[in-house]
Amino acid sequence: MENFVINGGHELFGDVNISGAKNAAVAIIPAAILANDVVRIENIPKISDVSLIIKILDCMGATVKMINSDTIEIDSQALRNKSVPYELASHFRASYYLIGTMLGRFKNAEVAMPGGCDFGTRPIDLHIKGFKMLGADVDIVNGMVCAKAEKLVGTSIYMDNVSVGATINVMLAAVLARGLTVIENAAKEPHIVDLANFLNSMGADVRGAGTDVIKIRGAEKLHGCTYSIIPDQIEAGTYMVAAAACGGDVLVKNVIPKHLESISAKLIEAGAEVIEYDDAVRVTRYKALNKCNVKTMPHPGFPTDMQPQMAVLLSVAHGTSLLSESVWDNRFQYVGQLTRMGANIQVDGKLAVIDGVDELSGVKVKATDLRAGAAMIIAGLIAKGETVIEDIQYIDRGYEDVVQKFAALGADIKRIKTTEAESIVNAG
Ligand code: EPZ
Repeated sequence: MENFVINGGHELFGDVNISGAKNAAVAIIPAAILANDVVRIENIPKISDVSLIIKILDCMGATVKMINSDTIEIDSQALRNKSVPYELASHFRASYYLIGTMLGRFKNAEVAMPGGCDFGTRPIDLHIKGFKMLGADVDIVNGMVCAKAEKLVGTSIYMDNVSVGATINVMLAAVLARGLTVIENAAKEPHIVDLANFLNSMGADVRGAGTDVIKIRGAEKLHGCTYSIIPDQIEAGTYMVAAAACGGDVLVKNVIPKHLESISAKLIEAGAEVIEYDDAVRVTRYKALNKCNVKTMPHPGFPTDMQPQMAVLLSVAHGTSLLSESVWDNRFQYVGQLTRMGANIQVDGKLAVIDGVDELSGVKVKATDLRAGAAMIIAGLIAKGETVIEDIQYIDRGYEDVVQKFAALGADIKRIKTTEAESIVNAG
């Protein structure tokens, strides 16, 4: 077991380099097998979700070579159409992209139901609706999603909910289908555009990504390519919020500022200064934080994956802030951990009312999911005293070198190994 130990109260100063986007990488890596060729992918983040998707491809017979620390080469010519077992698929959400890719390439897929952070029910009805409308038979048998089709034929698919995963999965199944597929009410996140650009680099014909309507004209076959993944919008936003919460002066490098506009706007509203450069944003904060209201929305709205981090900043801002979560049913589990640190937050359904307090106090807390874990780091950085964060495996799913990156900005943060006995005692 490992924990993070943080001694709070330090302002942050310096530069931080942002890694490749997790939610783009976990879609683009499985998508590479659609080419049945050799594909090189650069700017891969070193995080456990990426290691897991690479392990799954390896188990299915693809050859994955590490070219250097952030570049892999995938040769999927020997890939076999094997089922993806629960032991692998259940550890994260993105395993369900293998349904779209295996259906797209082999017209047959058998993948265990996905796992992922627990925000309440996380249905996949829109994924299944899309596959069925393209002509597949889809059943869930013993926890396995089984999809097969004689052929896939393009059609118009309306997404009842804006869904990143369903939009991506239909794109993956449609690029080799016959004819035109139109996805209406499509998700517009930066990683959707990144996937579309990657698919087009392999010879697909995907237009409109980043808008509500994506049109995909099926190709006969795809070919290998070399592609570099975009910087991670949420990792960048996490360091931006940390800089504003702690105070100081931080240059967040290797970003696409346009992807960060909603985060920058809210930090300025809360009292920070944000300056945009071509591929960096600078966040400074010297005056007191003030309250602001935040509502999470699909892109280009304020990202739901930045909601816990923003709650920490608002928990020590002057005044009462309203934080509403419009994407997930239950994304406030971390509030119990923050309250133990002295935060004053009332949650009623999808709304959190945050009364700013003067300071938080360091205690032992748990990471309840990936972004909640990132929020606990920010809470520890601003709290008085020592904070110990348990269950940090969640954080390692989505943040590369998080201790090194924060320590380089002046944070007093360490990763420590705990003995099994100590963990049991602590578990009480
Ligand atoms: C992706 O999850 C991200 N994960 C999540 O980030 C992110 O919170 C989410 O998109 C929203 O931006 C990955 O990309 C791996 P959705 P996903 O389908 O695709 C409902 C992180 O921290 N819905 O966009 O699972 C659903 O219940 C993770 O990196 C249906 O009703 O999210 C939710 O209310 C956490 N039916 C809404 O749509 C469906 O078939 C948005 O979900 C699918 C979704």
